[in-house]
Amino acid sequence: MATKVTQADRTAARMAAQVLAGGGLVAFPTETVYGLGADATVGAAVARIYAAKERPQFNPLIAHVPDLQGAYRLGRFNTQALALASAFWPGPLTLVVPKAEGCPVADLATAGLDTVAIRMPAHPVAQAILQAFGKPVCAPSANRSGHVSPTAAAHVLRDLKGRVDLIVDGGATQVGIESTIVACIGDAPVLLRPGGLPREAIEAKLGVALAVPAAHDESKPLAPGMLASHYAPRVPVRLDATSVSANEALLAFGPAPLRGSDVTLNLSVRGDTAEAAANLFGHLRELDDKRPAAIAVMPIPHSGLGEAINDRLRRAAAPRA
Ligand code: TXA
Ligand code: MG
Repeated sequence: MATKVTQADRTAARMAAQVLAGGGLVAFPTETVYGLGADATVGAAVARIYAAKERPQFNPLIAHVPDLQGAYRLGRFNTQALALASAFWPGPLTLVVPKAEGCPVADLATAGLDTVAIRMPAHPVAQAILQAFGKPVCAPSANRSGHVSPTAAAHVLRDLKGRVDLIVDGGATQVGIESTIVACIGDAPVLLRPGGLPREAIEAKLGVALAVPAAHDESKPLAPGMLASHYAPRVPVRLDATSVSANEALLAFGPAPLRGSDVTLNLSVRGDTAEAAANLFGHLRELDDKRPAAIAVMPIPHSGLGEAINDRLRRAAAPRA
């Protein structure tokens, strides 16, 4: 298959909608990372996502919608889900809720679960495509399974050239890390995945602490982005480094990067976790490409987007499956 790349101009959204309507795959920018989209209502279209990514089939996907009306057709929102949707949508938040009656999302996209993950992205290009298409679009991050998520169109092209019909290039993504996923199913909302919306903002809105999922077998994930080794560069990753050797690359944080490595990229010289999140996956890719003996990572604080950054780094450092 030939992969077409187009700049995100006015005709791009219409072109994308046409590809989606034909059962094709479109990679497009959201404010978090680039997504690999297909018509969420057609199983055969969804199947092509799994094939392109070489993704294990048990991973359910997020259905993207342009507005609340679209969201209510897919899922049942309890009080807490409604509060979060009205406070944080559009934005880097995904809500997992019970499927609505007649939910049109294909079973393959929800992996046969009776819940559905829904997101309303804020990115104007994503919005334009979703509005032009008029149906939900399921989209995982537009990378091969196990690779780090793409924050630029060039990353998508490298991973998925010849496997995706159209890539809409809208520049670098702003948040840089995937959406925060919160399940609003029972009484207590559960943080399934830390991400681009800090836990503190959600807890402040709800007035309760978010529960974390009960301990489970990491090989049979509840939210499979949660596979222990998931966001993995090819070279080993060493966390909380307090020194670095010459054959290692350094992923630094803050104004005083460690000395000793020839190759250093700094996530945020001023120590800002939002800036660090935006740089995380791009920097990991760039260091990985230099094939150092390992990537040493300086400690990152846990506050704000630090929770999500540390989560992704733990997975990048986990023993490979
Ligand atoms: O920022 C994002 O969320 C990006 C952009 C493209 O929207 N998407 C993304 O999708 O990160 P993906 O497929 O890489 O991660 C989706 C996560 C997976 O961990 C999956 O297990 C979880 O959402 N998920 C989807 N449906 C679920 C459900 N019904 N219950 C629990 N987890 C679910
Ligand atoms: Mg992903």
